[in-house]
Amino acid sequence: MNPNIKQILTQKPESQSISVNGWVRTKRESKGISFIEINDGSTPKNLQVIVEESLPEYNETIKKLSTGASVNITGILAQSLGSEQGLELKAKSIQIIGEAPADYILQKKRHSFEFLREIAHLRPRTNTFASVFRVKSYLTCAIHSYFHDSGFTCIQTPIITGSDCEGAGEMFRVTTLPLNNVPMSDGKVDFTKDFFGKEASLTVSGQLAGEAYATALGNIYTFGPTFRAENSNTSRHLAEFWMIEPEMSFCDINGNMDIAEDFLKYLFKGVLENCADDMEFFDLRISPGIIANLESIVNSKFVRTTYTEALNKLIESKENFEFPVKWGCDLQSEHERYLTEKIYSSPVILTDYPKEIKAFYMKLNEDNKTVRAMDVLVPKLGEIIGGSQREENLEKLEKRIVECGLQVSDYTWYLDLRKYGTVPHSGFGLGFERLVQFVTGMQNIRDVIAFPRSAKCLNY
Ligand code: 4AD
Ligand code: MG
Repeated sequence: MNPNIKQILTQKPESQSISVNGWVRTKRESKGISFIEINDGSTPKNLQVIVEESLPEYNETIKKLSTGASVNITGILAQSLGSEQGLELKAKSIQIIGEAPADYILQKKRHSFEFLREIAHLRPRTNTFASVFRVKSYLTCAIHSYFHDSGFTCIQTPIITGSDCEGAGEMFRVTTLPLNNVPMSDGKVDFTKDFFGKEASLTVSGQLAGEAYATALGNIYTFGPTFRAENSNTSRHLAEFWMIEPEMSFCDINGNMDIAEDFLKYLFKGVLENCADDMEFFDLRISPGIIANLESIVNSKFVRTTYTEALNKLIESKENFEFPVKWGCDLQSEHERYLTEKIYSSPVILTDYPKEIKAFYMKLNEDNKTVRAMDVLVPKLGEIIGGSQREENLEKLEKRIVECGLQVSDYTWYLDLRKYGTVPHSGFGLGFERLVQFVTGMQNIRDVIAFPRSAKCLNY
């Protein structure tokens, strides 16, 4: 395989003949010499290629060579006086593999992210999107490394499911029933006639299945797609996204918070060390100060406080929020941001939320009003992690299921985990795209996923 441009720019095989594949970013002609910038997606940096008029194919090839064309160039790498990296390729031969006609839309002019969303198949060819997806790829490996090195077992949990994990009714239905002739029985849809013989949906979280494996294998994690039919058209919600969900047996909420904090810092540090070129790009073009921000988070301790304390601080602030705050209300992103940006100037882990606004599986506190939830909030984004200690007591869990208006019979298998050898256990979910949004400083979550799916948005 030919070395890629990243390898060439780091290994600097000067005076050697090398062959490069890539796409033309720009072409400039001056006094019988052409300067071509080539990018191959391996680094934000381009490789400058010098083509002299004396090259036999010069006239014909250079004419056809335009932004977006794919090329193979062989030449000698040499020190350059002009180019940024101090290296350039003096071409000995150029072959155009695929031309790009003049209507190619990604010319030098900048396009808005909204527009690029409409051409999501071409946007990875822009600097911003290439950087986002290189960082995302690094993070994928780092996430697996973190858990692997900490002795966690990776579990693939089902995507099609019969359980509503969050009990929030935000599930996409999976069915093969004919929409124009739905079988009915006693005025209700007869799901016994459906593919699985019962109602089925796309999972909103792998947690419940994860608990079954954590209560056998100790510490596990899942990393897979999740789906939410939330009708929220915000810059931090998707209908299809990926979630990382560790689940730890013999672990209470404090252990859960320790792991969440350590995990995030490991990922931030890893990105700063391993994606330096891409992070420089984000710092310069997307979110000035992002590198210093991440560095300071890696070296600080997250604030840990309760929902009630945080709520009191929000009330005391007398800030005029769009959604007024009072005990019991769910925190909106404006409140989460105010806490992390104005009140604490730090990531914050909030615990002990009112039970009414949290899922049925969270461990009930002795006050009977709050549950052992823990959300990690970060500046500019708000909630990045949601987790909790789980209710491990069989009777209490049954009671919560009923209280939440759910059917105990739907959760028999889940209750078995409490009936047989129950243990205190905890876990959390980190939204993968929210993580990428946070480390890159990208404004909209739709710009950190290859092909975004959200309410009224399914272009591909
Ligand atoms: O807070 P959530 O709903 O928690 C759970 O699903 C738990 N079962 C996780 C667990 O304890 N194992 O979601 C977890 C995280 C959120 O903090 C957020 O980062 C992300 O998933 N998330 C979304 N990301 C993008 N689009 C959406 N619609 C999201 N909903 C949640
Ligand atoms: Mg949440």
